[in-house]
Amino acid sequence: MKVAIIGQGYVGLTISAFASENLDVVGFDSSQKIVNQLNLGISHIEGVDSSLLKNRINSGRYKATTSGSEISDCDIVVIAVPTPLNDKRKPDLTFIDSACKTIGQNLARPALVINESTSFPGTLRNFIKPQIEKYSSVLINHMYAISPERVDPGRVDFNQKNTPRLFAGLTPEASAKTREFYSKFCDQLVEVSSPEVAEAAKLFENTFRQVNIALVNEFAQIAHSLGISVYETLDAASTKPYGFMKFTPSAGVGGHCIPVDPTYLAAVAEEHGAPATFIRRANEVNLEMSKYIVERVAADNSGSLTGKSVLVVGVAYKPNVADVRETAAELVIEHLRQRGAVVSWHDDLVGSWNGENSAPLSGADIAVVATKHDDVNVQDILRSAPYVFDTTGKVPGAKGL
Ligand SMILES: NC(=O)c1ccc[n+]([C@@H]2O[C@H](COP(=O)([O-])OP(=O)(O)OC[C@H]3O[C@@H](n4cnc5c(N)ncnc54)[C@H](O)[C@@H]3O)[C@@H](O)[C@H]2O)c1
Repeated sequence: MKVAIIGQGYVGLTISAFASENLDVVGFDSSQKIVNQLNLGISHIEGVDSSLLKNRINSGRYKATTSGSEISDCDIVVIAVPTPLNDKRKPDLTFIDSACKTIGQNLARPALVINESTSFPGTLRNFIKPQIEKYSSVLINHMYAISPERVDPGRVDFNQKNTPRLFAGLTPEASAKTREFYSKFCDQLVEVSSPEVAEAAKLFENTFRQVNIALVNEFAQIAHSLGISVYETLDAASTKPYGFMKFTPSAGVGGHCIPVDPTYLAAVAEEHGAPATFIRRANEVNLEMSKYIVERVAADNSGSLTGKSVLVVGVAYKPNVADVRETAAELVIEHLRQRGAVVSWHDDLVGSWNGENSAPLSGADIAVVATKHDDVNVQDILRSAPYVFDTTGKVPGAKGL
């Protein structure tokens, strides 16, 4: 079985690493820089060790490429490309479309095409299949399936092997072949009745997180106005052994999934005349958190941040990763600058970002902790400025939500 994985980012490289234990894998990516690095055995993704990548390359099981012709004789092609929002905050399927073009123009024999990219219900049936057929010079009857990816980069307790995997084919043959493929490296496969159910389930999982995060972010503001601790209240509520799941407040949501996927669901819902008001409002609450935090910081500092040096500690969207996509820290920085603060940031995992480099963890008037990586010392944070505001609940002794 020869497998092509289109897109060698968080999802695609992770799948490549697992699949290439037993199968021949071609990792296709449009970025020559990424491909060059991967072929040198250098991983750019947390959770995929460079040593493992080198082993796979040396065993002849894995190679990366930018050449579409390398996928021509594959039995299985997995799509793992970005599905962002466009500048109107609508689903942007241009990366999927270009993956379809690569597949249509190069895949020369009947194969199974699996989409792992997150998108709205109907994407496989009404977009991916027709686009691949449009780009093919001769019609080849490929099989099509969806298996939405659930990887959580940086997480060590759940991975491709022990995270149950949803899937559905457009035909029973596609479902059977999909099961055969994933059962080579995944313990539990959950087949659902249609690709649309699998696509919707993935969106709903992340929407569930989005609205619960929004709820706790709103509650943090309520608790502050009532003069009670949000954290103590959440701990108290968590003692209920059923019917409660604890989420914690933050500067907002980041990453490729939680700020984006619910909008895919809302967009398709609204197209079908089903208003997604709850999802839309949750998105707004999470986006507004950065402004609320900056207002709290200003209020504690005699109402003005003009000319004050503010260090934002942690700009990755979550702890222990270098990923800054959609990070809430960006909005925090924007609001601080709008109020005249002189802003720098410290995050040695991220290193450089938006043309700026990570600053030393010291010497500021004010520090705002947006993300707390495990290896950043709490005492160092507290010493970095005379006033420290923590949005993470992980810096005892600081002011915070
Ligand atoms: N990152 C996550 O935690 C996560 C989790 C579950 C699902 N997803 C979903 O998986 C999909 C991929 O996300 P990701 O985080 O791996 O993205 P990513 O940005 O980390 O990686 C995408 C890769 O695809 C490449 N690429 C873009 N267009 C291409 C094309 N036409 N052909 C070949 N390569 C192309 C890019 O160069 C990049 O290396 C998205 O739909 C995302 O929502 C992501």
